[in-house]
Amino acid sequence: MSLVTTKDLLLDAQKGCYAVGAFNVENMEMVQAVVSAAEALNAPVILQTTPSTVKYAGLDYFYANAKAAAEKVHIPVAMHLDHGNSFDLAMQAFRVGYTSIMIDGSQKPFEENVSVTKAVVDACHPADVPVEAELGKVGGKEDDQNGGDNNPYTDPQEAKAFVERTNVDFLAVAIGTAHGVYKGEPRLDLDRLSEIRAVVSVPLVLHGTSGVPDDTVRDCIGRGICKVNYATDLRIAFSKGVSTFLQEHPQTIDPKKYGALGRDEVRQYVMQKIQVCGCAGKGYRMA
Ligand code: 13P
Repeated sequence: MSLVTTKDLLLDAQKGCYAVGAFNVENMEMVQAVVSAAEALNAPVILQTTPSTVKYAGLDYFYANAKAAAEKVHIPVAMHLDHGNSFDLAMQAFRVGYTSIMIDGSQKPFEENVSVTKAVVDACHPADVPVEAELGKVGGKEDDQNGGDNNPYTDPQEAKAFVERTNVDFLAVAIGTAHGVYKGEPRLDLDRLSEIRAVVSVPLVLHGTSGVPDDTVRDCIGRGICKVNYATDLRIAFSKGVSTFLQEHPQTIDPKKYGALGRDEVRQYVMQKIQVCGCAGKGYRMA
């Protein structure tokens, strides 16, 4: 089927108390792996690309990959811009056909974050394309942005005002997760998540989920997270597959051979995380 937007996927998830997995893809094999894993489990799924991935190959290449993969299956697949770092990039993705846009103004002062988010919302909503924003800073290094040491968590009352003023569809919250590989076990402020949920009605998004224990992710979903982002572990899985193959067959020159193993590793990982999100069987297959 054609690519769908994330709007209904996440509202359905909110009603059904599950989450939809959002998986960062960096090449064709990863797109195939994620969509094939979701299809095997009859799950809705979100593909997403960060600005650095977009810079590597172009929005149009990734959109074309996602569209081709979605059209071969009967589950809902959405294509999302992750951490859009400017109004211009958000508009480029929107024009190319991305069906979901994140504008990340979390590095900016509150008023500037409100204003850039509202500008993207005002541009996307007439075409029914939903928008995700972030308030508070997720730690670690996501793409070219760096949360650095100044890493405040999302304030519930600020979150309420932010959503009311921007009319944003989904809100990414900072509750102690970080992008990249964790040094120890991450400690999340789950009470804060519940406090945000109590005053913010839109679906909430968890970033930095690679390395967060599955039970903690389930707890977050129970407290209002409807979209769960995984990136680092997909990179690790793909690289593991490729490097294992090349170690065993160092003479190989055919990229299809090692690409296929990278793809298999990503597929297995994504299948497991779809189960954690609780969205297996929620793919409402369509003709
Ligand atoms: P991880 O790299 O920690 O999985 O984070 C993914 C993410 O939040 C992408 O926006």
